[in-house]
Amino acid sequence: MSKTTSFALITGCSSGIGKKLAIAFAERGVTVLATARRTESLSELTSKFNNIEAFPLELGNLASIDELKETVSKRTGGRLDFLVNNAGTHYASTAMDVQMEEVIQLFQVNVFAVMRICQVFVPLLRRSIRGRIVQIGSVTRDIPVVWQGAYNASKAALSQYSKTLRLVRTSCIAIFHNYLTDE
Ligand SMILES: NC(=O)c1ccc[n+]([C@@H]2O[C@H](COP(=O)([O-])OP(=O)(O)OC[C@H]3O[C@@H](n4cnc5c(N)ncnc54)[C@H](OP(=O)(O)O)[C@@H]3O)[C@@H](O)[C@H]2O)c1
Repeated sequence: MSKTTSFALITGCSSGIGKKLAIAFAERGVTVLATARRTESLSELTSKFNNIEAFPLELGNLASIDELKETVSKRTGGRLDFLVNNAGTHYASTAMDVQMEEVIQLFQVNVFAVMRICQVFVPLLRRSIRGRIVQIGSVTRDIPVVWQGAYNASKAALSQYSKTLRLVRTSCIAIFHNYLTDE
């Protein structure tokens, strides 16, 4: 299989960890397919690096994930080398005041969307000789932080899902957790 560049899909690059990861990958010569809900929020990255490209993604909408898969597939010729599930959201509340709509949205973004992204992008990762999935978790998967019960639970769910993926991984896909955890 000919390979001129490596492709990394990194979700949530408009700020924070995702933005730093996009820069780190780009500086190492990887072509970064960076996502955010509004591509305008990625203009600083795309204007500084000609190997960072912006794609829209709304994790609250499964159709948006499927659209991204089609777009990325066309861009890369059906291959992906790195999938970094970084985008995430946060919600703080006492257990008694928790708003269930917020909790459902949190799990949609932090857990269910990640499961769908892994599902639709694994076929592209299998076409790479070094396909990797990197999940950005949190120490709160194990260490309870007060007023963050829903967030802690979402990261625990993500952790257990990722550990299970490791058990069923194919020969060309390795699942990593992240530097924020001790795994
Ligand atoms: N910062 C910490 O101390 C810390 C600690 C442990 C774990 N983490 C984890 O690390 C990851 C990144 O955290 P961060 O602090 O760097 O976050 P951040 O600065 O708030 O950035 C979050 C990113 O996720 C994207 N995002 C949020 N909701 C989205 C949605 N519904 N659909 C699509 N994209 C969405 C945002 O893009 P938009 O421009 O579209 O909003 C943004 O690019 C998260 O998974 C977080 O749980 C962070």
